[in-house]
Formats: sequence, C-alpha cells, structure tokens
Amino acid sequence: MSTDAIVLLKDDHKEVRRLFRDFEEAGDNAHVRKGQIVRKIIELLTVHTYIENEVMYPEVRALLPEVEDEVLESYEEHHVADVLCMELWSMEPDDERFDAKTTVLIESVRHHMDEEEQEWFPTVRDGLGRNQLQEIGAKMIELKKTAPRKPSQPSALKKAIDALIS
Ligand SMILES: [Fe+2]
Ligand SMILES: [Fe+2]
Repeated sequence: MSTDAIVLLKDDHKEVRRLFRDFEEAGDNAHVRKGQIVRKIIELLTVHTYIENEVMYPEVRALLPEVEDEVLESYEEHHVADVLCMELWSMEPDDERFDAKTTVLIESVRHHMDEEEQEWFPTVRDGLGRNQLQEIGAKMIELKKTAPRKPSQPSALKKAIDALIS
C-alpha cells in the first residue's frame, strides 16, 4: 500500500472539501444538520492539522530548508483555523454567528488547501524522493491513531493556547 505523504494529505483535503459543500448546500434553516456537519469538519481538521504540524511540516522543513517561509505561513493559517474551530465547537448551531463563522473557516481553509495543493505539494514532490515521502506518510498514518479528534482534547487545546499566549 502506498503511504505517500502527499497522496494521504490530498485524500484528507478531498473529504474536507466534500463536507464544506454539504454545509453550503444544507439550506438556511438546517441548523441540526449543519451542526452535525460542522462537528465532522472540526474533527477532520483537528486530526489533519495535528499530523501536518507534528510530522509533515517539521520533516519537510528539515529536509528542504528553502520551503521554510511557506511552512511558517502554514502554521499561522492553521492557527487561525484552530481558533475558529475552538469557538465553533462550543457554539450552538442556531447562534446568529454560527453560519458566518463557519463560512469564514471554510474560506480560509479552502485558500490554505488550494495553496498546499497547487504550490507547496509540487515543490515538495520535486525536492524530496519517493522514499522520503513514503516514510513521512507512514509516520502520519501511525500518528493519526493517537491524534486528538476534538479541539477540547488537551493536546489540541494546548497547541492553540501556546500559540495565543506566546
Ligand atoms: Fe495545512
Ligand atoms: Fe493540508
């Protein structure tokens, strides 16, 4: 089985994009359904962010120092998404700011995934060998098993708080 890091991350992105469309198509008054979709989005993003932050970004940064700026920008974009996810997690879906906050989350995560897919991944694929990408992917698969799934879990929360107060 291929464990190519970029293939794995793109698969995650596809799932996230599908949920974004579900949310957008759910209709103005579908509060219950939209609440469920947003919880799924947050769970997926929490795991995805964790494996990128803990494995993909540091490993690639160490192997390809020329992508350092993009990695630092990615940490910041993930941080913004983390804050929105944390707020949404404790909000009621019929709150007047729920849809607006979700829309901002969707816009910013879409922008981030587009940049990863169109610019960053091609550079990384050119710069790293097949074996290196397989090894990084295998590490991410392993880490997924213990990754936090909710922003309220300590390991996810701690990251966001550290970023806020540091
Ligand atoms: Fe990312
Ligand atoms: Fe990603």
